[in-house]
Amino acid sequence: MSCGLVSFVGAGPGDPELITLKGLRRLREAEVVLHDRLVPHELLDEVSPGATIIDVGKTPGRPCVGQDQINWLLVDWARRREHVVRLKGGDPAVFGRLGDEIEAVRSAGIAFEVIPGVTAASAAAARLGISLTRRGSASTLVFAAGTDQTGHHSAALDWELLARAEGTLVFYMPVGSLAPITAALTMLGRDPREPAILVERVGTPGERVIASRLADIAEEGRAAGVAAPAVLITGPTVVGASVPLTLRRAASHVAV
Ligand SMILES: C[S@@+](CC[C@H](N)C(=O)[O-])C[C@H]1O[C@@H](n2cnc3c(N)ncnc32)[C@H](O)[C@@H]1O
Repeated sequence: MSCGLVSFVGAGPGDPELITLKGLRRLREAEVVLHDRLVPHELLDEVSPGATIIDVGKTPGRPCVGQDQINWLLVDWARRREHVVRLKGGDPAVFGRLGDEIEAVRSAGIAFEVIPGVTAASAAAARLGISLTRRGSASTLVFAAGTDQTGHHSAALDWELLARAEGTLVFYMPVGSLAPITAALTMLGRDPREPAILVERVGTPGERVIASRLADIAEEGRAAGVAAPAVLITGPTVVGASVPLTLRRAASHVAV
């Protein structure tokens, strides 16, 4: 039996203009679109009027479509010979359960492709005018999950390694664990004065940035009521971040 095609497409975070040309083309051609909660909703206007759009977004603390059901939907629609676009926030390969979905599609014998997207860390760095790496002082770049699957506890990470790592650490899903993350890093030897930044809802009208030092960022984030989605970036290259005008701080430049 011939099957359809599943295109895993990275939508980018927040700003709808950050999708790739190839991703946008696939979205316009799609017959079925299964999308995450965090994809820029303006992109759904690009979908052809006859196509089926299914929201399979997961909202923390609310009943939602489970991963098994998403896998099943992908396979089921593709078996009807449809061109399915699985639209995911940011880059599908970064904390996006892409591996599970590829496995489901591959084991059903369905053709697929992955079209990368701009991940939240890259979008945040770009907005703030910082580099995530720097020759000599930031040759390592780590993307880490800040919380475990429950969303309430810090992820089980090698904190000693992260504390020692020279360079930039980016924590995705950090909001529920800001204090444990920063305490673990500083107690295990990371410089508490290292510049750190929290970027909430990057690329959206609600974007906010809290710039501080590693030792203080958790408290500042808590005081500001920072909520998901946000990324925590800490490392020497965070110095000199040019803070856009949409920020809660009055200063247009953060001297950290
Ligand atoms: C399940 S992960 C998906 C990451 C996504 N695949 C990517 O590459 O950006 C969700 C986390 O990504 C981060 N994130 C996604 N969109 C964001 C945004 N617009 N602003 C800040 N962080 C974002 C947050 O840490 C959020 O909790």
